[in-house]
Amino acid sequence: MANNNESIHGSWRNRWTFILAATGSAVGLGNIWKFPYITGEYGGGAFVLVYLMCIALVGIPVMMAEVAMGRRGRQSPINSMKALVSEAKAGPGWKLIGWMGALAGFLILSFYSVVAGWSLSYVLKMATGVFTEVDQTVAGDQFNGLLADPSMLMVWHTIFMILTVGVVIRGVNKGIESTITVLMPLLFVLLVILIGYGASKGDIMSAVDFMFAADFSKLSMEAVLVALGHSFFTLSLGMGAIMAYGSYMPRNASIASTVFTVAGLDTLVALLAGLAIFPIVFANGLEPSAGPGLMFVTLPFTFGQMPGGQFFGALFFILVAFAAWSSAISLIEPATAWAVERFKVSRAKACTLIGVIIWALGIGSVLSFNDWSEFHLLPGKTIFDTFDFMTANVMLPLGGLLIALFVGFGMKYHHAYNEMNMKNAGLFNLWYIVLRFVTPVAIAIVFINGLLPECS
Ligand code: PFF
Ligand code: NA
Repeated sequence: MANNNESIHGSWRNRWTFILAATGSAVGLGNIWKFPYITGEYGGGAFVLVYLMCIALVGIPVMMAEVAMGRRGRQSPINSMKALVSEAKAGPGWKLIGWMGALAGFLILSFYSVVAGWSLSYVLKMATGVFTEVDQTVAGDQFNGLLADPSMLMVWHTIFMILTVGVVIRGVNKGIESTITVLMPLLFVLLVILIGYGASKGDIMSAVDFMFAADFSKLSMEAVLVALGHSFFTLSLGMGAIMAYGSYMPRNASIASTVFTVAGLDTLVALLAGLAIFPIVFANGLEPSAGPGLMFVTLPFTFGQMPGGQFFGALFFILVAFAAWSSAISLIEPATAWAVERFKVSRAKACTLIGVIIWALGIGSVLSFNDWSEFHLLPGKTIFDTFDFMTANVMLPLGGLLIALFVGFGMKYHHAYNEMNMKNAGLFNLWYIVLRFVTPVAIAIVFINGLLPECS
């Protein structure tokens, strides 16, 4: 039963810690690493515009729904779904939302941690001057050399998983909340310093042009699917992370305004990351469509050429690692909370075991760049590419679709209404209509058009 009690795992001290934690979850590798390189791969402006539309029409309404479900369920996503389904006397099929979400969390964190490991290794590389005044081939060789070395990749992947588990075993308040309240202000300060440093260099106008001049002739259906998928990935939606954080949210906090804040900050950081990275790319006459290496080759090379680049380059990768860390915490929390509820074991045991499983899954991603690079799980896709594609472009949008349909049609109207607790009834109805009709139709259309050509 949905209840009025606190979650057994704890509650955020106030609405601000919810905003910090949810922003910590949202702002991550998705913004700084993935958004710039997929924008580059899919041609810039038109892609950015579709992405922004997805955030507004799909991301924000679904985020409000996911927070509301968590706060009403007050448990891990899997058990919150059970409670909400029985409260609404809805069909058991809705519970898929919880289970598929947990699976998506495992898959995402397994490759996310490997990329976060790259950033950790780059903190060291930058700080020790590996890139100082080298030429571009050396910068490229550094990245390729790292990818070719499975044991090095494993070391950093392992360190990152230990950092993540180390926070989550200490619980919602002593672990997650206290870490996030230090990490997020730091992250913000670093971002401001780096933007100040970067604004003076590089070709900002061609970056603005590339990101905002929309040429729709370049836009494929696949690009639209990727934009939709990325809007879920970047807001941490469709897999229960935001639902879990919502279950620790104070009763009296307004869901709508907190969600707007979180989504706004996430979008801001993505656009700023683009505006920081593309000027550098263009100023050096490099290709924006460089793929996953964009941040790990172009950027360190450029830092290496600039005065103070050793220091600021290290700061940049610390920023990336912090952003990844606060996201990883939210990726492992839903399954941890569920295991604590289900098996009545300590959080330390539950989280450690889950961490080990995800760590082991990550080996597949590590080897995707070297020993198993020829092994394809989906046509043309390594394990790393497959996990990325399946989670961002299939599981998260599908989870989001089901969440929209559940709150729109499965849940009772007055329960949704009470949980949202919006002062303005007109605004509530606008959200409700968008969630019931606009969001699901948009996801379904993109799914059908984007996925079918992919399968055939
Ligand atoms: N939102 C994170 C990012 O943009 O890097 C990634 C992420 C975190 C996805 C948590 C999903 C999730 F549940
Ligand atoms: Na994000």
